[in-house]
Amino acid sequence: MKILVTGAAGFIASRVVERLLKEGHEVIGVDDFDIYYSRGQKEKNLMPVLLHPKFKLIEDNLATMALVTVLKGTEAVIHLAAQPGVRGSWGSSFHRYVTNNIQVTQRLLEESKANKLKRFVYASSSSVYGDVGEVLNEEMKCQPKSPYGVTKLAAEHLCQLYNLEYKMPTVSLRFFSVYGPGQRPDMAFHRFCQNIIHEAPMTIYGDGKQIRDFTYVDDVVEIIAASLLAEVVGQVINVGGGSPATLLEAAALLEEISGKTSPKTFLERQKGDVFSTRADTAKLERLFGSKPKMSLKEGLAREWEWMKKFVQSEDEEKAIKSNVQIIGGADEADLAEAKAEAKSHRKAKLKAKAGKNSKPAPDNSSSDSEAPES
Ligand code: UGA
Repeated sequence: MKILVTGAAGFIASRVVERLLKEGHEVIGVDDFDIYYSRGQKEKNLMPVLLHPKFKLIEDNLATMALVTVLKGTEAVIHLAAQPGVRGSWGSSFHRYVTNNIQVTQRLLEESKANKLKRFVYASSSSVYGDVGEVLNEEMKCQPKSPYGVTKLAAEHLCQLYNLEYKMPTVSLRFFSVYGPGQRPDMAFHRFCQNIIHEAPMTIYGDGKQIRDFTYVDDVVEIIAASLLAEVVGQVINVGGGSPATLLEAAALLEEISGKTSPKTFLERQKGDVFSTRADTAKLERLFGSKPKMSLKEGLAREWEWMKKFVQSEDEEKAIKSNVQIIGGADEADLAEAKAEAKSHRKAKLKAKAGKNSKPAPDNSSSDSEAPES
């Protein structure tokens, strides 16, 4: 199948691209590398697929680009591009949510009408519900508590409309707090891992007793891939993790995994934050015959492993940049030299640190857990 994946360099989408290519699909990825978070992280997300012969990346803005050519011959659209961030959706940034979440979705639906798509998969969110119940099921009346949730719900409604009136084969998947390797830097676990590594306090909004149905990214990817063929057209479906936990419970798990504790700074509850998201997954199980399986502990351990490497590579890049500035007018050889220098400097620091803590010399895997100072 020829599939368009929007927001292709993002946390979830980049893994979807990888998965689809493994299945033999041809994938067109569109991403505008929005400044919401670093281009570097997004480029790293795409590393495994960039040179794949069946992958084409288009760097452009979905709100303005010519979609006709991109959509030509496309059989499915997986629409994961969005303006994310629940708490940042108030105030003057709201227009970004309207454009990127509502208008872009409408534009894609409109432009896809002529294409006889087999599927249009829309990434919705648990934030469409608001605080409407203990366990959230798709029949409940949605009352979003954040402007972000309002825009995600509006786009979901648009998908339903295009399904009803134009027979567009839409399906809306409501994702519940997705986490795992590659997680966005504004999200709780990414920040907590960074806090542990840099020996900084964790910031907890509210009392930390808010519950999230944390969902592991590859479980979400499985469902997205399956939604291309499953009998799900016209449906709205919860994609929740089945491992609800309070924020403090999750933070404690992360501390256990990392073997380090972090002080907590409690700040006031953020406007737009819901108290609890727990997914009723009956519909998911009925339509897909499966549901997310990853335990929170194992999923967090994988995010922690990824994060250590990510921080290390960021530190190396920073060191390279500062070395290159000193060298001035660096060419390829200079860069290689600077990189090697940064690496050996880091190793020396790790050794010194290990010695100071009078621990046995770290092997390759455990050396990762000794984060370089930033
Ligand atoms: C996440 C994503 O950011 C949304 O894009 C997605 O649509 C949403 O999940 C969803 O599932 O509907 P959120 O649940 O707010 O939103 O996820 P996090 O950003 O990881 O925050 C989880 C909780 O931790 C929130 O209560 C937040 O206030 C809190 N938090 C976050 C902290 O206490 N400290 C932090 O440093 C970061």
